[in-house]
Amino acid sequence: MDKIVIDGLCPLKGKVKVSGAKNSSLPLIAACLISPSKFILKNIPRVIDVHTMIKLLVALGSKIEWLSEDTLSIDSTNVKKWRAPYQMVSKMRASVCVLGPLLTRFKKAEVSYPGGCIIGTRPIDLHLKGLMRLGADIQLKDGYVVANAKELNGASIYLAGNFGSTVLGTANIMMASVFAKGDTTIEGAACEPEVVDLGNLLIKMGAKIQGLGSPTITVTGVKELHGAEHTIISDRIEAGTYLISGIISRGEVEVEDIDPKLLTVFIDKLIECGVEVTYTGRGIKVKAGKDLKSLEITTLPYPGFPTDLQAQMTAFLTTVPGISFIHEKIYPDRFMHVAELLRMGAKIMREGPTTMIQGGELKGAPVMASDLRASAALVLAGLAAKGRTEVNRVYHIDRGYPKIDEKLASLGAKIKRVKE
Ligand code: UD1
Repeated sequence: MDKIVIDGLCPLKGKVKVSGAKNSSLPLIAACLISPSKFILKNIPRVIDVHTMIKLLVALGSKIEWLSEDTLSIDSTNVKKWRAPYQMVSKMRASVCVLGPLLTRFKKAEVSYPGGCIIGTRPIDLHLKGLMRLGADIQLKDGYVVANAKELNGASIYLAGNFGSTVLGTANIMMASVFAKGDTTIEGAACEPEVVDLGNLLIKMGAKIQGLGSPTITVTGVKELHGAEHTIISDRIEAGTYLISGIISRGEVEVEDIDPKLLTVFIDKLIECGVEVTYTGRGIKVKAGKDLKSLEITTLPYPGFPTDLQAQMTAFLTTVPGISFIHEKIYPDRFMHVAELLRMGAKIMREGPTTMIQGGELKGAPVMASDLRASAALVLAGLAAKGRTEVNRVYHIDRGYPKIDEKLASLGAKIKRVKE
């Protein structure tokens, strides 16, 4: 597997363009299974997870081709299969979001039950509860979720769990209910912009949906949907990661093609920390101020602080004087990056879902990427560390960040990818 080698303490400067959102692309590609039609999706990032989702749709019978660097043509006219096999789902948990579309289209679906992953057990009980409320019979057979429905009927469904709303659960139930008879009301729905993006594609396809972006979404069943063209929103997590690259290296970085409203709480925290933030019209520019202050952050469902920026923010706070606290309220075990940051000289103590971070200096070291966002955090730490950092197993980072080494190099980072 490739590794990324970084020589740190080089302030980054310049502009970087944000790609399309990976977390939008996956459910939106899956949504193209619902109708035997043709779709054009623009602003799709070329990352491993997107390629995995494309392979899954092709295995089910869709015809897919890249029309340009970031535009996909998807023809789902001849989809005849409704089984998502273990070999594919085990590569990427988000494959579970084909469950709703397949059930909607065929009134049956078989999807390998996704296993746990490095950031926790990650159950899908809420997805299944929602489908059952719509009238589906759900069985677990040989490691597969087997869903069958004579017909799907609108229902009132409370979809939040112990850790708040569910993003892909809301996506699955929205997609499963587009043809359900009557109204489906999802209470405790995820408000994430990626869910809104999916809803907007479904509306373009002919679905009737109200309340997107709020905790109450109502879907009124229609008889059929048709093809559509849609541009995916920008990746707020990628944008946040590059903004942190600017401040952790004590440089000045502008991210382009991002709506600042997608990052309100993140920007709010940067300002509280003493970072100079400027809205440039096309995006956001940051410059680390002289007196940075420690922070207390709690991750929460949108519009709260995103768990997907927790690891990167931890890396930054290891360089900020004073004592910071991070409370992880969505994935209480999402701290794989901590042990690796300790190898770089970070001072972090963990007590359950909370970390206490004492700001100081980082030193380069060989470290191991464990999951997507943890890997990004290690690359960011490498930018701020004295000496050389080698981030091994960067496969994880390639799942969600298009060309991260090239984008950081364009900002002046001393970074290279070493093929192994
Ligand atoms: C999505 C994102 C992921 C992000 C996460 C939380 C995609 C492809 N992935 O994942 O990057 O970190 O949202 O913002 O969009 N839960 C249950 N039962 C369920 C479903 C979830 O208890 O049936 C729990 C989870 O374990 C977690 C919390 O709910 O504690 C939120 O998870 P969820 O929003 O479902 O995450 P994903 O949609 O899988």
